[in-house]
Amino acid sequence: MKHPELKQKFNEIFPAAQAPRLFCAPARVNLIGEHTDYNGGHVFPCALTFNTYVAAAKRTDGKIRLYSLNFEKTGLVEADINHLAHDPKQDWANYPLGVFWAMQRRGLSFDGGADMLFWGDVPLGAGLSSSASIELAAAVALNTLFGFGLPQTELAKIGQEAENKFVGMNCGIMDQFASAMGKKDHAILLDCNTLHYEYAPLDLQGVSILICNTNKPHNLIESKYNERRAQSEHALKQLQSKLNINALGELTEEAFEQNKELITDPVERKRAKHAVYENRRTLLAAQKLAQGDLEAFGKLMNASHISLRDDYEVTGKELDAMAEAAWQQEGVLGARMTGGGFGGCVVALVKNEHVENFKQNVARLYQAATGYRPDFYAASAGDGARELKD
Ligand code: GLA
Repeated sequence: MKHPELKQKFNEIFPAAQAPRLFCAPARVNLIGEHTDYNGGHVFPCALTFNTYVAAAKRTDGKIRLYSLNFEKTGLVEADINHLAHDPKQDWANYPLGVFWAMQRRGLSFDGGADMLFWGDVPLGAGLSSSASIELAAAVALNTLFGFGLPQTELAKIGQEAENKFVGMNCGIMDQFASAMGKKDHAILLDCNTLHYEYAPLDLQGVSILICNTNKPHNLIESKYNERRAQSEHALKQLQSKLNINALGELTEEAFEQNKELITDPVERKRAKHAVYENRRTLLAAQKLAQGDLEAFGKLMNASHISLRDDYEVTGKELDAMAEAAWQQEGVLGARMTGGGFGGCVVALVKNEHVENFKQNVARLYQAATGYRPDFYAASAGDGARELKD
């Protein structure tokens, strides 16, 4: 399947529909700055050239009909635009339905329904934000078809609201922001406290960004993710008994060390420590990239993984095995888990001439340690959510 065929497929699945328009939104990989977004810190993701595509057309009645070629078992999902509700049976379709719902909550009114056919080449359940790419594909399609004229940053917030309040995953803004705002050959340094952002050219001088998929599905991630978030928020509350701060991302390492005893639970203290140190590492990493110091960037990636393993405890056996295998290889500048954790992917910086050996050796070591066969993708940074015109 290729996305230009999607309009054709649309006509087969929705024969009586209006002529569709084609939209897409990318997945993302986060280079550094993990579990910092909802802690008011910085993240450093880039959008990928893996996308969710959607062929979509308006309907004159209030019906919504959704179909995905990636989730054919779910079949056609139908909903009434005036009665949108989360339902586990709707499976993947809860993401686009949540986008309709979040748009309505902002007072936007739809003068009809829509037919939408989705297909994507994003690896699913790999921690590369397949769900955010579905949300943003839906959001950019609806924004265009219904003429709402919302800016891309607003579409990102709508995607996040759909996921938080309709789907029930309490994620931060990173994934939706990267999917909405991605720029070819650039990473995005985003301050999640203010949503101020800068594009950083990814000029990697003979180094590849390699994504190593553990192929361990990251199920159960929602409950553990929401738990980490609650622990960080509680730690912040205790710090606020003395400090005038709104988020952990406002603290320097020194300020944290001087005040950490305010956090009574040692586990919550570790969670907060990660959030503070990871934020500072992210700022430093962006500086190092701008200076062309990829060696230093790679070391910060390694430190990030260790902190996510020991203090935030979101890695698990497979991600650790993959990162450890990567660290041993020649030509590797750094490697760390990326995304929410508990399975999913490791991102590594590898010198081009060592990429082939890297893949062979890491695959062997990783498979011996876990029994899972990994996949590797060379990442290239792509553009954000948009309409595709012929
Ligand atoms: C998931 C969430 C993001 C972010 C990362 C961890 O991808 O959707 O908001 O919190 O985990 O950095």
